[in-house]
Amino acid sequence: VDLTAANTLRLPCHAERLAVPRTLGDLQTVLRLAVSQRWPITLLGGGSNVLLPPLLDGIVVRPALQQWWLESQGDEVLVYVGAGVNWHSLVMALAAQGLWGIENLALIPGHCGAAPVQNIGAYGVELKDVLQGVQVVDVASGNLYWLNTAECEFGYRDSVFKNALAGKVVITQLALRLSRRPAPKLHYGDLALRLPVLPSPLAVAEAVCEIRQAKLPDPEVLANAGSFFKNPLVSQAHTERLLQQYPAMPHFPQPGGWSKLAAGWLIDQCGLKGMREGAFGVHAHQALVLVHFGGGDRAGLMALADCIVQTVRAHFGVELESEPRMI
Ligand code: EPU
Repeated sequence: VDLTAANTLRLPCHAERLAVPRTLGDLQTVLRLAVSQRWPITLLGGGSNVLLPPLLDGIVVRPALQQWWLESQGDEVLVYVGAGVNWHSLVMALAAQGLWGIENLALIPGHCGAAPVQNIGAYGVELKDVLQGVQVVDVASGNLYWLNTAECEFGYRDSVFKNALAGKVVITQLALRLSRRPAPKLHYGDLALRLPVLPSPLAVAEAVCEIRQAKLPDPEVLANAGSFFKNPLVSQAHTERLLQQYPAMPHFPQPGGWSKLAAGWLIDQCGLKGMREGAFGVHAHQALVLVHFGGGDRAGLMALADCIVQTVRAHFGVELESEPRMI
């Protein structure tokens, strides 16, 4: 099965088998079969945050659970959403209903089932802020159970699903807690400048879409996987040294004497924005995004990524880490 069109970086990938279960029962059946046949299992959602290899053995499982429904609890609303639902359509549908909580996360590509894996975040909101629980199937036993937010061990672009539970469970459903009470979060960037003091959640979502569309390439037009690097955490002492040399460097103090730097700014300062190396390049409007012009494969992309990591290390003494997941 050709998965080139199933990943937004359009990396050429051929999988031995692909299953797209549409119900929980079908998913459990597929997992049982894969376990009994000892096929390595690769999980795929929207394919917007993965680095696929040219060949994938075993079976690729792409859960297509599409249901979602609401449960009102006074001013609050619990939203139950299947792993296969497109995240952005969910955001827009809920914002249009006047529900607050995920409007800042508009236009993030991918499926809902992938959202907790990297704790998606943008414009001052992270998934963990609204998440109530994650339903999973245990691969080995086929059992279904819920994890609460603490059990998900969320961090910046991190969760238990990338660590202790990696390869052990398949996410089937999320429960999100949204609210009818106005709660705009407009402190990030120039969001507040674009909106009235009391906007609707739909107006916030639309403003976020505008900002993202101005900087981030549409994967349908130019293949990419959003931010290619995480924003690095560095010690306060290192940050102070860098600030003496670069007083305008964006930095965000974190608990425990750390500081988060903007990887996009670091790459930009090295003069790499807009550069092209064969089939891949650094996006001209946002240096954190690597783009694929066509004809390349994962090795070519990783060569460019390595070159960026080394350049940033030499300039700033800072280590960049890839954000999309290496499969
Ligand atoms: N900057 C530059 N040059 C660049 C890019 C950024 O100077 O080429 C500077 C900006 O001017 C700003 C700072 O770096 O001062 C931060 O930039 P921005 O607000 O655009 O956010 P980011 O740190 O580049 C992060 C997330 C994005 C998310 C935005 C908005 C990560 C790895 N990336 O990007 O997430 O949309 O904040 O909240 O945390 C993604 O994960 O795929 C993604 C797009």
